[in-house]
Amino acid sequence: MIDSLQEEFRRIYKGDPEYLFFAPGRVNLIGEHTDYNGGMALPVAISQGTWLLVSRNDKHKFVLRSLNVDDYAEVLVSPHYRRTNIDWVNYPLGVISRFTQLKDDGTSGLNMLFSGNIPRGAGLSSSASVEMATAFALNQIFEAGFGKMELVRMAVEAENDFVGVKSGILDQYAVTFGEKNTALALDCSSVSHTPVPCKLGEYTLMVINTNKTRSLTDTRYNERFAQCRQALGYLQQESPISELCELSPEQFENLRQLIPDPVLARRAQHVIEENDRVKQAVSALKKDDLELFGQLMFDSHASLRELYEVTGRELDLVVEISQRKGVAGARMTGAGFGGSAIALVHQAELKNFRKLVMSEYKKVTGYEPQLFPVKIADGVKQLTRQLR
Ligand code: GLA
Repeated sequence: MIDSLQEEFRRIYKGDPEYLFFAPGRVNLIGEHTDYNGGMALPVAISQGTWLLVSRNDKHKFVLRSLNVDDYAEVLVSPHYRRTNIDWVNYPLGVISRFTQLKDDGTSGLNMLFSGNIPRGAGLSSSASVEMATAFALNQIFEAGFGKMELVRMAVEAENDFVGVKSGILDQYAVTFGEKNTALALDCSSVSHTPVPCKLGEYTLMVINTNKTRSLTDTRYNERFAQCRQALGYLQQESPISELCELSPEQFENLRQLIPDPVLARRAQHVIEENDRVKQAVSALKKDDLELFGQLMFDSHASLRELYEVTGRELDLVVEISQRKGVAGARMTGAGFGGSAIALVHQAELKNFRKLVMSEYKKVTGYEPQLFPVKIADGVKQLTRQLR
């Protein structure tokens, strides 16, 4: 694999790569749309991700190429960068831009080649994976000395301000701090996590990519963000909170009448109850209670469907099919509006499950689903110090 990437690099850039990095994708087990509301989530990093090969050049340019997309960009090294009209390029370029603002000297031209095996638009954080590979690479190559947390913030700011998506910290955090066979009980208000061993016993964690792609630059994501802020504003009339997730579900029920718009009230209800479900899920996982854990996954999906309205018929169908024999729990993962679902499937039922999803899902939606087991992996890293 790495050999063929090096080969491609040589073919494109007529020289050897000097550095190699890898950043994983992520799956969020539970805790959706809580991160930008100061709540909890439970992500894992996965073995699929993005490789990044780099060499320095003397052209004073960042050359941004990918083996997954034909479009590429050459951008002069400068103190300021602008968005390009090539969608994928804006993710690494946003990071380069933020990096340059924070470290205003010493960057020089780089030949960069990205190659990923996360299906794009599948809700598995291919963009955060590209961002963190870039941030990690710049930090190492230019010896900037930023800590991992600073790199995470750099990538989130790039996505918020350069790409224009108001996403929270979940994806970049998981991609950076992920650990093999471990889930991260991530507290987005203190921005720290507790590692929780992810022992699934006789169950396998499966990803079901609906192949209904979506883009995070989708305005509906920013719309949900804005609705949460609005709901918060109403609640703050009587409560001194600064984030929705500071409220328990009971406290919220007592204050609910402050929100005049029922849609906004439903959005807040989802966020606050989902935060509570994550806490329950963490203690269920610690006690190896996969039955309860699975039930919380189903409840989370129902809430994302009914209250937050981000699921859509493809994800709903996958979860509905999963509600049959041999599945402890299933839900959408990531932002929603298409993308992937996850399911905890009993090993004895794996074959049947695959067959059932393949046939029923395709019959109804016309899309070919893609199923694969999740291997819980480590976060972003440099694979070799130097290749030459
Ligand atoms: C996307 C965003 C995350 C988070 C999830 C929903 O993945 O990038 O910050 O908000 O959606 O939980």
